[in-house]
Amino acid sequence: MNSSKGEWGSNFGFLMAAVGSAVGLGNLWGFPYKMGMNGGFAFLLFYLILAVLVGYVIMLGELTIGRSTGKGVIAAYSSLSKKYAFLGWMAFLCPILILAFYCSLGGYCLKYTIANLGDFFGASWGVNGVDTAEYFVNFYTNGLEASIFAVIFSIITVIIVMRGVSGGIEKFSKVAMPALFVLLLVVIVRGVTLPGAIGGLKFMFAPNWEVFNGSGWVSVLATAGGQMFFSLSLGMGCIITYGAYLSKKENIEVNALIIPFADTVVAIMAGLAVFPAVFAMGMEPAGGPGLLFITLQAVFDAMGAAGPIFGFLLYLLVFIAALTSSISLMEVVVSVIIDRKEEKGCVANRKNISVIFGLILCVLTILISVDSLGEGGLPKLLGFCWLDFFDLLSEGIMMPVGALLMSLIIGWKLGENWMREELCQEGNQWKMAKFSMFCLKFIAPVGMAMILLGQLDGFFKLGIFS
Ligand code: PFF
Repeated sequence: MNSSKGEWGSNFGFLMAAVGSAVGLGNLWGFPYKMGMNGGFAFLLFYLILAVLVGYVIMLGELTIGRSTGKGVIAAYSSLSKKYAFLGWMAFLCPILILAFYCSLGGYCLKYTIANLGDFFGASWGVNGVDTAEYFVNFYTNGLEASIFAVIFSIITVIIVMRGVSGGIEKFSKVAMPALFVLLLVVIVRGVTLPGAIGGLKFMFAPNWEVFNGSGWVSVLATAGGQMFFSLSLGMGCIITYGAYLSKKENIEVNALIIPFADTVVAIMAGLAVFPAVFAMGMEPAGGPGLLFITLQAVFDAMGAAGPIFGFLLYLLVFIAALTSSISLMEVVVSVIIDRKEEKGCVANRKNISVIFGLILCVLTILISVDSLGEGGLPKLLGFCWLDFFDLLSEGIMMPVGALLMSLIIGWKLGENWMREELCQEGNQWKMAKFSMFCLKFIAPVGMAMILLGQLDGFFKLGIFS
């Protein structure tokens, strides 16, 4: 472990930070809307299978690489072999791309949190019953307003990361994650007790095998896989970076189980917060990406006097979840720069590094916000709006390629003994070695290759899975 960078104060603190990285817009926005568009229960089933056979072992592999090298991603991969340095670079660039659009979307959440508060006070800055689709378009096409919220979100991220691993990230996550859980419970209780909510529960949990007619299930499988590894923050530097701050006495195997488990529980809870209310208000569950900002806002508007309170709570919790993810993304970058400085024999100043990177981040996130999901008049990139293009490079290509190669490297090059040496430190045991190595060698590479194809299919509409 590189002690000048910091170390988690406790395993609970590490878990809150790692679960915080995993739980984000992917769970609270992506999971419900993709589930809504992919037949509900079948999507959930595929998601769970892939989380166990692919997500868990990649999480295990990444935590092990992180802790064994004690470095940021570039140095971590290079210290395994110079040949793997390019993977480190990919894992370093990827969070920068994700952060650019993540901060912009985080800004959207902040705007909606405040707008619902405005409705509660009957203020002019509330939604005020405007048609929710119109309200959303008016907001995101106003580049200045969207940029201001994105920059505020970025500044909060920088302030937390600047304070260090245990004093900033861990301290914040230890409060934010339990708070998020409680808020989610409150919103779920309201949703499932609305008359008509049962439709949403059936939609989520009643076995529905319709997608198994024909080849539709392949596309559902690919979508569930893509969602799974993004949601678990895999395939780029986050988990490796957080693993590097983990003390040798902690049990990596148990932690690697808890993180996907908690992430999946929150994703299902997000579904419970959304679908019963959507059904109760007679709205469309397959609303696509508009589910969070259009459908749900309409649900709150239809709830009467209590609507703004629950709207405020829901958007606040999504905002918190996005923040614990964005700090993990930024930490990847900061830790790499600290490594580089130290390699050159300089004293690394975390504050300065965070502020300078923060400025770069503000420029990037303003570009994404001003592009207004392609309606802001900026030139298209390969035919994509800026947000989609950044998403294509990161989530579409770099993350699945990174996770695919990582599983091959551990499964076939580094091998079981290398894993065992790190996992069995200080009396810990590796109980599921055979299962994990089998998955790392065979199932994860095949699964990730399929997910990569699914991502490219989704972005370029190649029609491979339809
Ligand atoms: N897992 C986060 C989410 O579900 O929104 C997104 C994310 C965070 C992806 C950190 C990758 C990452 F490294």
